[in-house]
Amino acid sequence: MARFTTAAMTTEQTVILTGASRGIGHATVQRFSAAGWRVITCSRDRIPAECLVGGAPHQHIVTDLSDTESVEAFVAEANALLGDAPLNGLVNNAGLSPKTEFKERLGCLNADLDDWRGVFELNFFVPLILARGFAAALHRGKGAIVNITSIAGHRVHPFAGSAYSTSKAALSALTREMAAEFAHLGVRVNAVAPGEIETAMLSPESEALIPRIPLHRLGAPADVAGAIYYLCSDDSAYVTGTEILVTGGQHVF
Ligand SMILES: NC(=O)c1ccc[n+]([C@@H]2O[C@H](COP(=O)([O-])OP(=O)(O)OC[C@H]3O[C@@H](n4cnc5c(N)ncnc54)[C@H](OP(=O)(O)O)[C@@H]3O)[C@@H](O)[C@H]2O)c1
Repeated sequence: MARFTTAAMTTEQTVILTGASRGIGHATVQRFSAAGWRVITCSRDRIPAECLVGGAPHQHIVTDLSDTESVEAFVAEANALLGDAPLNGLVNNAGLSPKTEFKERLGCLNADLDDWRGVFELNFFVPLILARGFAAALHRGKGAIVNITSIAGHRVHPFAGSAYSTSKAALSALTREMAAEFAHLGVRVNAVAPGEIETAMLSPESEALIPRIPLHRLGAPADVAGAIYYLCSDDSAYVTGTEILVTGGQHVF
């Protein structure tokens, strides 16, 4: 009962999300906007006209999260936009899954070490840096962090490379560690691990995996957005340190 009273009394909830220009990030912006949240986002591109959502306020900051100065500027600008307002959600969604120019899997033997470092910087270190950068605002909002991991962090994947998969496995482990530490700030930390979701990241070859997906279809970005929204909402007020697999059951094999 108190939970619903609190929500009704709160005039505005705010979420910060990375990687909003397309795919899962864009669907998640739509999900939060439809629920009336204020949304602050970033990506290297501006939001394409067809992805703009009306209604709730949406502030987008063009940022390259692979660049340290750009990340620092994003944290400063987003905190300035917040002012003293609470932050209720941080969604670490932007990610990178590089392939070779022949669409080969980048593995332990054929991938350049600098490419490994680039993947870990964006997929692993940026979520940590942003969680630290927004910790005070999240504390004010008794908010929630959601890290977007991957089914590839849990098993060898036919298309996802080794650097990507290990960076996501590390992000799953970081979610557990952050849940323990951020609980002292009243902040919950969880992860969502998508399976095969129809976005620019997926290769056409992924269709071949459908027979091994119990729900027998690829996922839609909105399927993932729903799980992210749940983990930021009061409905998951007693959920922290967990990872929701949004895979259509692919992980059971
Ligand atoms: N699709 C899947 O099947 C799948 C499966 C498992 C996990 N995931 C994870 O889900 C998340 C979203 O993936 P998606 O499929 O929606 O990918 P996507 O369609 O490729 O979108 C990635 C988003 O991240 C942004 N981004 C990439 N590099 C960036 C950078 N250096 N700085 C700022 N923004 C950057 C992109 O925007 P700009 O290009 O404009 O910067 C874009 O908005 C990722 O973490 C991915 O690993 C996806």
